Amino acid sequence: MTNIKTKVSKVIQAKTMPDKPDLKYLFEPRSIALIGASHHEDKIGYKILGNIVSSKYPGKIYPINPDGGEILGQKVYKTIDEIKGEIDLVTIVIPAQYVFDAVKSCSNKGVKFLSIITSGFSEIGNSQQEKEIVNYANEHGMRVLGPNIFGIYSARAPVNATFGPPDIKSGSVAILTQSGALGIAMIGKTRVENIGLSSIISIGNKSDIDESDLLEYLVMDDATKVIMMYIEGVKNGERFVRILKQITPKKPVIVIKSGRSKKGATAAASHTGSLAGDDNIFSDIMKQCGVIRAESIQEAIDWSKYLALSNPPKGENSIIITNGGGIGVLATDACEKYNVTLYDDLETMKKIFSDAVPEFGSMKNPIDLTGQAKFEDYQRSLNAAFNDDDIHSVICLGCEAAALDTEKLFTFIEEAISNSKPIKPIVLSFFGGARTEKEIAFYKPRNIPVFSDVYEAVSCLGTLYKNYRNLQYRVDTIDQPASAETKSDTVLIENIINKVRLDKRNFLFSYEGMEIMKMAGIAVPRTGLAHNIEEAIRCAEEIKYPVVMKIVSRDILHKSDAGGVVLHLDNKEEVIDAYQAIIHNCRRYNPYARIEGIEVSEMAASGTETIIGARRDGSFGPIVMFGLGGIYVEVMKDVAFRAFPFSRKEANNMVSQIKSYPLLLGVRGEKRKDIDGIIDVIVKVGEILYEHKDISDIEVNPLITYEEGKGVKAIDARIILTRLNESQFGQAKTEEEK
Ligand code: COA
Repeated sequence: MTNIKTKVSKVIQAKTMPDKPDLKYLFEPRSIALIGASHHEDKIGYKILGNIVSSKYPGKIYPINPDGGEILGQKVYKTIDEIKGEIDLVTIVIPAQYVFDAVKSCSNKGVKFLSIITSGFSEIGNSQQEKEIVNYANEHGMRVLGPNIFGIYSARAPVNATFGPPDIKSGSVAILTQSGALGIAMIGKTRVENIGLSSIISIGNKSDIDESDLLEYLVMDDATKVIMMYIEGVKNGERFVRILKQITPKKPVIVIKSGRSKKGATAAASHTGSLAGDDNIFSDIMKQCGVIRAESIQEAIDWSKYLALSNPPKGENSIIITNGGGIGVLATDACEKYNVTLYDDLETMKKIFSDAVPEFGSMKNPIDLTGQAKFEDYQRSLNAAFNDDDIHSVICLGCEAAALDTEKLFTFIEEAISNSKPIKPIVLSFFGGARTEKEIAFYKPRNIPVFSDVYEAVSCLGTLYKNYRNLQYRVDTIDQPASAETKSDTVLIENIINKVRLDKRNFLFSYEGMEIMKMAGIAVPRTGLAHNIEEAIRCAEEIKYPVVMKIVSRDILHKSDAGGVVLHLDNKEEVIDAYQAIIHNCRRYNPYARIEGIEVSEMAASGTETIIGARRDGSFGPIVMFGLGGIYVEVMKDVAFRAFPFSRKEANNMVSQIKSYPLLLGVRGEKRKDIDGIIDVIVKVGEILYEHKDISDIEVNPLITYEEGKGVKAIDARIILTRLNESQFGQAKTEEEK
């Protein structure tokens, strides 16, 4: 009955909910009202108005303040009702307790977006009022940015409706930030670094508009070449993954996520009221989506700037030109770390550089011009590199030396970059004293990619290549979810789940889990359930020796600890002894344990032990996991994760990502293991979880993996169901009852 009621109310809601306004009007509003425009220069409501005016916003500006009058030459309206015509964006900057009334006052002015600057909502536990505001706004065709934000800057309008610095340079980097204060600081930093922004938006509590909404606009926005995001927690991960996968084959997304450390995660969670999630899961899923994750804000800023300004490479061959061997070796190490391929065709290099490199220099990569190198030596080598089609990018290094005029060199590069003919990607790193530092400080804001640290320089080039590979190879992985060739029997699986529900359990016994594995086409050892010694002998003889026996009890989770597992049983006598021993041990371990029986299974041949899991993650929804180690997995923690949907290729990436992958390829003359078999199980286990919403966790451990072509075998499968409360348990029905 309740179900029908809910369904009906959902239908009514769906019918009456107005269409969502086009995000274009948030980024390109034709009119802006500011509720809380202040007459006092030190107040946020004054600063925002000042920024809107000074950003030369061409649309209509409506400051609202009960005192009326004039602020910064703008007529002030006492109430929103005095304003004639529709308003695209309303910025609200009044104390929290008055915000809801202000939102209500917007409902019949055709307002499309509300940017609520005010703090004091879910971030301090006041979630109820935040929800009421969002519900009201949505019901009246308005969407909410924030609350608890610094506002929005959009170069398209152009408008600076933030209370951050007034002079934002327009350009091609879009920044989305969950932290307001950090965002304001980023505006300042981008100014110092001379980075142009297409937009910067504070998303704060993400009560309604979240990063996925904004990304949907930014993917279409031609002015945006690079997207940089600071996030603390992901709320609607499935949608986030979907949109990221659409963007990264088109433009780079660089993300900084706080909460890597456990303490950081707690701070992030309390800061925004959202879940920070497990950092390894986040990292792996970002990798899956082609997102580039930065370790620090400086790194994210350097990478964003470099990607926005550099030409794309035409291939992977990179060369290092240096006047010092040591710095050249450091750069070689950095290239390995950041996956930059050093060109190593010696013959061709000789041809390219023979006229440029002095006799005593080296023409191997790194090209060493030696400590005597002058500007002219660099100039000749750089021109040789720029003009040869086999070389695709350049790492230009130098140690401060009397012979080298770095100022001339930087000016030469500045001219080459600003030349209409596009030059190849180049990064520079120069190390030295006050003279070098001064020149770096002078040329960096002039958009010369020069750094004093080699790793910083190479990391920029490495990021450019990461993006290059995303654009080259990722296109085919979108929306091609892997699907098991043999579909599992959903009705039979539902039947098992319903029986477990009726038995008031939230977990499946191992034999039930294995039954589901079998239904999904996953190889499992032959198994039977015995309730007495005679049945155990019959099972063992049907299965054939050797066998394994395990206790089945809802009260004994750790079977080995209870003495409830006996392996390698070769005959009838051993089965009888094992049966008695298991019952005896388990009774001693827990005299009140309810014993369902003893499972008798085929003793599987040994192989490489792996683990496969699938679960519903709080942030990302259904995810899968793979790792090596069987019983040691907890210690090794050598696991990888992926979100749905994932292709077979991505499952393969996940398997090859773990550190112990070489063990699967075979070490010391061992044969390669059945990696295809592993991928099959990942896809199948994932599909079971995805199809059966009642299942919260599946863990196949161990999955014994044999040599290539010989398959895999699931030795144990633990399945946990989503928790139901007492009354819901009664509603679970078997298929027959339905
Ligand atoms: N309609 C229009 N104007 C109104 C109003 C209403 N309903 N209610 C109040 N005002 C006016 C006030 O009269 C005042 O104008 P005045 O300065 O000319 O007298 C102005 O709006 C501001 O109101 P005030 O009560 O003085 O608030 P405030 O400026 O001290 O603080 C906030 C308001 C929003 C800044 C504050 O509540 C807040 O949330 N601060 C934190 C903001 C923040 O950090 N956000 C996150 C950033 S990352």
